[in-house]
Amino acid sequence: MSLLKNKKSSADYIELENKYGAHNYHPLPVVLARGEGVFVWDVEGKKYFDFLSAYSALNQGHGHPKIVEALVNQAQTLTLTSRAFYNDQLGIYEKYITQLFGFDKVLPMNTGAEAVETALKICRKWAYEKKGIQEGEAQIIVCENNFHGRTTTIISFSSDADSRGGFGPYTAGFIRIPYDDIEALETVLATNKNIAGFLVEPIQGEAGVFVPHDGYLAKIRELCTKYNVLLMVDEVQTGIARTGKLLAVNHENVQPDVLILGKALSGGVYPVSAVLANDSIMNVIKPGQHGSTFGGNPIAAAVAIAALQVIQDENLAENAEKLGHLFRTKLNDYTAHSKIAKLIRGKGLLNAIVINDTEESETAFNICLALRDNGLLAKPTHGNIIRFAPPLIITEDQLLECVAIIVKTLEAFEN
Ligand SMILES: Cc1ncc(COP(=O)(O)O)c(C=O)c1O
Repeated sequence: MSLLKNKKSSADYIELENKYGAHNYHPLPVVLARGEGVFVWDVEGKKYFDFLSAYSALNQGHGHPKIVEALVNQAQTLTLTSRAFYNDQLGIYEKYITQLFGFDKVLPMNTGAEAVETALKICRKWAYEKKGIQEGEAQIIVCENNFHGRTTTIISFSSDADSRGGFGPYTAGFIRIPYDDIEALETVLATNKNIAGFLVEPIQGEAGVFVPHDGYLAKIRELCTKYNVLLMVDEVQTGIARTGKLLAVNHENVQPDVLILGKALSGGVYPVSAVLANDSIMNVIKPGQHGSTFGGNPIAAAVAIAALQVIQDENLAENAEKLGHLFRTKLNDYTAHSKIAKLIRGKGLLNAIVINDTEESETAFNICLALRDNGLLAKPTHGNIIRFAPPLIITEDQLLECVAIIVKTLEAFEN
């Protein structure tokens, strides 16, 4: 009875967040109370397809029983030791993940941004100790329109005014070049002796799902090797089967020097991130030089093994590849004669539709509101771009149902 009396509506929960939470997000007005597989339910019981997957953290779907089981079992046994002591889960996880991705070592962290920061620190230290760059002089190349997280250093090299503006003074030591531009990369590499690394997303997700031209990843690998510069690939969003391969770099058989993972590494049940590299690079980090109280905790270790096993057992990369093609084919048929939707682009099940309006317009947000009303949750990445990234466990029938919802919604915006 008392539960019923206290029952709140969506409007009540939104009011609470607006009043007591910092306004650092602009959420779609929908209040979710439950998730299972590809579906979520709001507090009033309405069911939706989740086409955001928590920014690709839920590749394995909501509440995957095997991942939740690993979480619960470990939570009931041992949650946290800190790295002051060894624990009986971490080493097993470290062996598993390094063998899976083909590296000597892993450095476990929690969030994507922390993992990126970790990679940057490793890269600078490697530059001084191994490459022989003079202390304090190392430069790292990054791309225009990058998104690597929200820490002070990371936003220092962002080209997005909202991400960066008003947060200075900024961390020095970064050179920005256009994305998907081999010539620009080679020009900097050939003329600057102090380059330590190149930090890059294999597809720019937050920027609006920009897929570089075929051969880009292989070519940047070649150039980084030629100039003895660390290729640091941020697969926080693209990794863990999202683009139709376990890693997006696998599409071009590229092995980075430093691999950055997060999000779906935990199946969306727990913050788990990781940096992988070989000994010659990773061993520059010595005790006391980097760490995190929660990084590598027993729950994270158990959950990440389960999350990676689900990806393999359920062939989620193959499903993403196959259904991604179907999704783009169906929506291409629509955009070919649409006035409101210009094009669909992406790889695997990381896709975006470009809306025929300005970056500053509200059209994409309004389309997302209508999609919500029609039972599908998605979010604009920018004013005129909507990302579509369902859990990779989605079936063909479900995907076709979603295409029908998207088409019906867009049709209402034509003219
Ligand atoms: C490519 C990339 N790197 C890093 C991050 C940051 O991850 P987190 O939000 O877990 O700090 C994101 C988040 O969207 C991302 O897309």
